[in-house]
This record gives sequence, C-alpha cells and structure tokens, in this order.
Amino acid sequence: MKKTILTGLRPTGNLHLGHYFGACQNYLKLQNDYDFYLEIADVQALTDNFNNPEKVRRNVTEITIDLLSTGLNPDKVNFFIQSKIPEIAELTVFYSNLVTVARLERNPTVKTEIAQKKELFGNNGESITYGFLGYPVSQAADITAFNGELVPVGEDQLPLLEQCREIVRKFNSIYGETLKEPEAILSEAKRVKGLDGNDKMGKSLGNAIFLNDTEEVINQKIMKAVTDPQKIKKDDPANPDICMVYYYHDLVNTKENKEKICNECKKGTRGCVQCKKELIKAMNEFLKPIQDKRKYYEQHPEIINDILKNGTEKAKEKAEQQMKSVKKAMKIDY
Ligand code: TRP
Repeated sequence: MKKTILTGLRPTGNLHLGHYFGACQNYLKLQNDYDFYLEIADVQALTDNFNNPEKVRRNVTEITIDLLSTGLNPDKVNFFIQSKIPEIAELTVFYSNLVTVARLERNPTVKTEIAQKKELFGNNGESITYGFLGYPVSQAADITAFNGELVPVGEDQLPLLEQCREIVRKFNSIYGETLKEPEAILSEAKRVKGLDGNDKMGKSLGNAIFLNDTEEVINQKIMKAVTDPQKIKKDDPANPDICMVYYYHDLVNTKENKEKICNECKKGTRGCVQCKKELIKAMNEFLKPIQDKRKYYEQHPEIINDILKNGTEKAKEKAEQQMKSVKKAMKIDY
C-alpha cells in the first residue's frame, strides 16, 4: 500500500518561482510514489482574508491552474477544496479541546504571522481572531482527516506540524490509538531569493516572478533586478555570487550557459544589460511550457471543475471513513 501524503496551499495568489523550486518540484517527484492529497485550503485562507471572499474564490481556480501547469497529474494527485469536506471542520471542533490557548499563542509560525498582520490583528496582536489563532488546530484536522503520514512543507510550517503531532498524541492517549502521527518531508530545494536580493521571494514583498507573468512583465522585473553594486562600467569585473541576475541564470539556464556567464562576469567581458537580456530569454523559455499548459486549462475551465470535483469526491470518502473511527473512539458514534 502506498503511503498517504497530504499538503495544502492557501488560495491567496498566484504561484511564483519560490513556490515552484521550493514546493512544486518536490510534488512532481512525490506524485509518482504516494497516495497524494492536495488541499486547496480556502477555509484557512479565510482566517486572514475573511473580509475578502472574492480574492479567495478567484484564487481557488488560479492556484489549481498554476499547480496543474507545473505538470502535476490529476490522475495521481487528488486536488480537493477544504470547505467541501465538512469533516475537517468537525474534527477542528473536537481537537480544540486538546490544545491550550497559551500553546497556540506560543506557536512560532502563528506568532510571526500575527506580527506581519498588524492591520488585521492590531500592533500587538490584541485583535487576533479566534479563527486565526486556532488555524493550527484546523491544519491538524486537514492532515489527520486523511490519515496523512507524510506532509511536504517548507521550514516555516514545521511548528504547525509539531502542533499537529501533539494533538494526535493527546487524542490517542485519551481516546485510544486512532490517528497517525504525521512526519514532515522538507523540500530539498533551497528557498528562492527575491529580485531585490531579499532572502525570500514573496508576493507581499513585491520581489517575485510569477509563473503566469507575461513576457513584458518579466522584462520589466529582470531589468530592475539587483546586480553587484561594485560593477559600475560595462567591462568592470564583478562577483556573480552577489548578483541576482546570475542567481536566476543559475536556476533556469543550462549548465554550459551558466559557466560561460559566470566566467565572463568575473573577467569583466560581459555587461549587465546584455546579461539581463539573456536572462529574460532564458526565463521565458523556462516558463513557456508552464504557460502553454496554463493557456490550455484557461480555455477549458470545465476540466478544472472536473478535476476538483473528482479529487474532492475521493477526499470526502476518505474523510468520512476517518470520521467514523474518530467518533467511535470519542464515544459519540450514535
Ligand atoms: N498553512 C499552509 C501554508 O500557509 C497551508 C496548509 C493548509 C497546509 N493545510 C495544510 C500545509 C495541511 C500542510 C498540511 O502554506
């Protein structure tokens, strides 16, 4: 029997290169060997976008198209929508007895996010909602509703997984062995830096290249990318290790080209403008197959609907089964 993998994404925006190299490449490998459930976490997205339902709705479709465009195979991956699985909400209620408010307030991921969302939750998090504080509980329900054994996530999500494991242990110790304790699969890929040289590429940081950016947009973004500040003249030698243009060449260009670019940069026989133009070309070539797939799916919205419908049906079956065991263990199986 294949092991079960469960992961989720909040539908709050399109995917960028950070997602592609940090997560999608990993999914592409994993889809062949596991029973793979991929949750479009619309309920979780609403915890900090409750005042913007249109955004969440629009991005459910957008993120599904992005994921499929990267080459994920809907015959291997069950794409499903969180809100269509009410068992997740039910489990969240049951698990909320097994976690203290203090523990949630100490969760490092939650703490960081509260600090980033001052507008929504106040300068010191004094206006934090019950729903947002509790989303780690809901995420534990996401995973355990499917008996998820492996959870591919980025490092920032590890505290949430730890919280889930604690809930599972507590549940099992009180109600008897019922739930599996999931493990993280950390992506081998490194975190992708932003066009501005920031350690992290992020939508809110304004330094991202999105998988669906047009050629024109890519052109503008790359022309503004940060290069070695010591290089003033076209024929000054420079250090590719601190140049964002070289950094992206390294991600998307061929080995031969990379070596050539690196050598010429160090020798000072290559200007930054030429180098950027070559990166624009390489980036467009890299994104072309992804964008071609996107176009196909955009022209066939009925396929997206079918994929979500089928995946959600399979997920629902699995969650219903799990719910039976949970209710039995909790003695609420009337
Ligand atoms: N919290 C995750 C994120 O922001 C998304 C997510 C929702 C998730 N449910 C999940 C990740 C279950 C792993 C498992 O990226």
